[in-house]
Amino acid sequence: MIRVNIGIPRCPYEAAIESGLLARTGAHLRTLLGDRRRLFVVTVPPVRRRWGQKLLASLSAAGFATKIVEMPDGERHKKLATVEALSEKLSRLGADRSAVIVAFGGGVVGDVAGMLASVYMRGVDLVQIPTTVQAQVDAAIGGKTGVNLRAVKNLLGTFHQPRAVLIDPAMLSTLPDREFRAGIYESLKCGVIGLPELFQTLERIQVRDLRRDPAKLERVIAESVKMKAKVVSADERESGLRRVLNFGHTVGHALEAVTGYRRFLHGEAVAWGMIAATKIAAALDKIDAGSAQRITEAVLGLGPLPRVEARGRAILRLLQSDKKTRDGIVHFVLPCAIGKVEIVSGVPDRIVLEAVEELRQLSSEN
Ligand SMILES: NC(=O)c1ccc[n+]([C@@H]2O[C@H](COP(=O)([O-])OP(=O)(O)OC[C@H]3O[C@@H](n4cnc5c(N)ncnc54)[C@H](O)[C@@H]3O)[C@@H](O)[C@H]2O)c1
Ligand SMILES: [Zn+2]
Repeated sequence: MIRVNIGIPRCPYEAAIESGLLARTGAHLRTLLGDRRRLFVVTVPPVRRRWGQKLLASLSAAGFATKIVEMPDGERHKKLATVEALSEKLSRLGADRSAVIVAFGGGVVGDVAGMLASVYMRGVDLVQIPTTVQAQVDAAIGGKTGVNLRAVKNLLGTFHQPRAVLIDPAMLSTLPDREFRAGIYESLKCGVIGLPELFQTLERIQVRDLRRDPAKLERVIAESVKMKAKVVSADERESGLRRVLNFGHTVGHALEAVTGYRRFLHGEAVAWGMIAATKIAAALDKIDAGSAQRITEAVLGLGPLPRVEARGRAILRLLQSDKKTRDGIVHFVLPCAIGKVEIVSGVPDRIVLEAVEELRQLSSEN
C-alpha cells in the first residue's frame, strides 16, 4: 500500500492507495475511527450497483452499521437542493454529531458529500472513497467541497478536510474509456507542473495498456496524489502555490463554458487548455520548442479529443469572467520546462487568440 500524507495544518490525514483496497475498507476505517459504529455512505446508482456490495461486506465484517444514502447521478445534481435532500435523509436515519459520512463515487459525489459533511450539524467527519480517475487524483484530495449554481460552477462551497482518502484503482475497471482518459489528463498535468518522470511515463504509454496494468496504474495515481498533496499541504486555501494546479484550466474552463458544459468532459477541456497554455508559453519564449512539442504530443497521444470549434474572441470574453481572474487580471499557468510552471499575467490578447486558433487547427487535423 502506498500512503501519502496530506499535511494540512491542524488536520493532517492520509491517502492510502492500493489495488483491491475496497475489500479492506472496514479494517482500515476501524483503525481510523476507533469505536464509532455508524457510517452513512453517500453514493450514486452506477457506483452502488457495481461496487456497493463489496464495500458493505467489508464494512459490516468490521462491525460497522452502515446506511446507504443515494443521490441521483450527474453534474446537474451537484446543487444545494441535493445537499438539503441528503440532510433530510440523514436526519430521518437519526444521524448525530458522531456520524461519519463516506463519499463513495466520482468528483460529484465527493463535492456534494463533502459539503454535506461540512454543514450537517455544523460539521461531521468525512471519509473519501473516490471511484473515478478524476476524483482519485484530484477531487478527493485537498478538502474543497462545492455545488453549482444554475449559471456558475462551484460557486458555493466550503473547505472540509476528510479524515482519510481510500483509493482503490481497481474500481476504475468499470469506468467508461472516455471518463478514464479524461482523468488521466489531470495526471499528465501533474507531470508538467512538477513531475517530469510521471510525464515521461504518460508520454510513452497507451491508455489501454495502462488500464490493464494495475501496478503501473497504482503508481500513476499515487504520483498524482503526491503532487496534489504537496501543493495543498503548502497552500490549503489557494492563495498562491495551489494555483499551479490550474495549469490548463484557464482556457479549459472557458472551453467548457462556451460549449454549455456539454461537449467536453472536464479533463478533455483541460487537455486542450494545456496545449493552449503551452502555445502561449512558446509564443512568449518561456519554453523551448522541443519541450513545447513534447507536451502537445503527450496530450494528443492519450487519445482523441472532441473538436474545438469555439472562436478565440468568445474564449477571451469568458476568460475575463473566470474565477481565476483576480481584480480583473487573467493569470495563466505557463510551462517553462517539463516539470516547471510559472504564473504569468498580462498575456496580450493577440497571443491568446492565436493559441485558440491553433487548437481549432489541431482539431481539424486530428
Ligand atoms: N473538490 C475539488 O477539489 C475538485 C477537483 C476537481 C474536480 N472536482 C469536481 O469533480 C466533478 C467531476 O468528477 P468526475 O469526473 O469524477 O465526474 P462524476 O462524479 O460525475 O463521475 C462521472 C461518471 O462516472 C460514474 N462512475 C463513477 N465511478 C464509477 C466507476 N468506478 N465505474 C463506473 N462508473 C463510475 C458516475 O456515476 C458518473 O456517471 C466536477 O463536479 C468537478 O467540479 C472537484
Ligand atoms: Zn481539473
